[in-house]
Amino acid sequence: MDLFEKCREFYANPQFAQKIGYPTNPRLAQALGIYPYFIPIESAEGTEVVVDGKRLIMLGSNDYLGLTHHPRVKAAAAEAIEQYGTSCTGSRFLNGTLAIHIELEEQLAEFTGKERALVFSTGFQTNLGTISSLIGKDDIVITDRDAHASIIDGIRLTPAQKDGKTRYFQHNDMEDLENILRSYPLEQRKLVIVDGVFSMGGDIAPLPQIIPLCRDYNARFMVDDAHAIGVLGRGRGTAFHFDCVEGIDLVMGTFSKSLASIGGFIAGTKEVIHWIQHFARPFIFSASLPAANVAPVLAALEIIREEPERAEKVNRLARRMRAELQALGYNTGNSQTPIIPIVIGDQFKTLQAWDLLAKAGVYTNAALPPAVPSHLSMLRTSLMATHTEDQLDKVLSVFRLARKKLRLQDQQPPKDETHG
Ligand SMILES: Cc1ncc(COP(=O)(O)O)c(C=O)c1O
Repeated sequence: MDLFEKCREFYANPQFAQKIGYPTNPRLAQALGIYPYFIPIESAEGTEVVVDGKRLIMLGSNDYLGLTHHPRVKAAAAEAIEQYGTSCTGSRFLNGTLAIHIELEEQLAEFTGKERALVFSTGFQTNLGTISSLIGKDDIVITDRDAHASIIDGIRLTPAQKDGKTRYFQHNDMEDLENILRSYPLEQRKLVIVDGVFSMGGDIAPLPQIIPLCRDYNARFMVDDAHAIGVLGRGRGTAFHFDCVEGIDLVMGTFSKSLASIGGFIAGTKEVIHWIQHFARPFIFSASLPAANVAPVLAALEIIREEPERAEKVNRLARRMRAELQALGYNTGNSQTPIIPIVIGDQFKTLQAWDLLAKAGVYTNAALPPAVPSHLSMLRTSLMATHTEDQLDKVLSVFRLARKKLRLQDQQPPKDETHG
């Protein structure tokens, strides 16, 4: 059989998707007009976007502080192109290190409270490169079941993917984590990795509980703070939120969310970063981040320092949104941040809700299996500091309408909030 046969079948045969475990056939959803992916945005003005000639309130961006359209951030990108051109055309290892990379790394080290930082070309590559360069054949990696795909794929690049050397604990379950840690001798080398803020659920990892476990069981601890930078701890991330910077060995972050660009970084001690920069293949064998993407991050960091009210505002808007959605009967999971999942459960109803909201002027993201378990299909919504209360009023009135129109059943409030 031809290697491409599966592609042909996937394209042409609606049943084939299910056969290979891909629950929603894209072509069928397209034919029904409820295909929520790869939607071209014709123009974007921060909290509003134009799709198919129609203005929608953007409730699905990771631009939590609304900095992608900030005049200083945009000007920084334009000036950097003037100074450095549009591309580095090479790896950081060879011709691709610019003075502005070093300047950003110094700023990021200071910002995260670590000795040194290293800038990668994407957040995804940062996790691939960091994890794969540190984990050897006799090492154990322990991570949360809900860890981001880039953490999972980073582990897949290591020898720990085999022989039961990768262990997953139940989401945010400290008892399960401790049981796993306890099952290894103290001298066994271990790395625990969690997301600071979980990208789908919007809940926070309990770092103050994980840190003593890592100390007691001799494990190193890495936090992926992609969704926390800019949002928690006066913008400086989950460790600052919990005041536990010292307890974390490695902080990873992305520029593609609050930092208004693209790229990523890892921060830690100077020895560990020195190691990563010499052994991380996705860092060494890939071209470096263009200056036009570095300079906006420097500008964004400056604004985060100068205007802590942006983080306060996005969290305030999120509290209002969560409370009002819950009052309407929606299940917002365990969200504690500007990421607010709206768990609908049934896949088809989720697609219908997504479609109804879009038609009523609200842009959301549909998260369906395999991204989420099959009974937990959801709309992933997220707020920006630049949203207005009026926009929220409009969004909430559309959600009120959606419940009635789709006859969504009352959703259970999240467990921890029910029990106080
Ligand atoms: C938790 C987490 N880590 C890493 C990444 C990868 O970052 P990037 O998209 O900047 O490559 C993402 C992106 O969605 C993420 O949510």
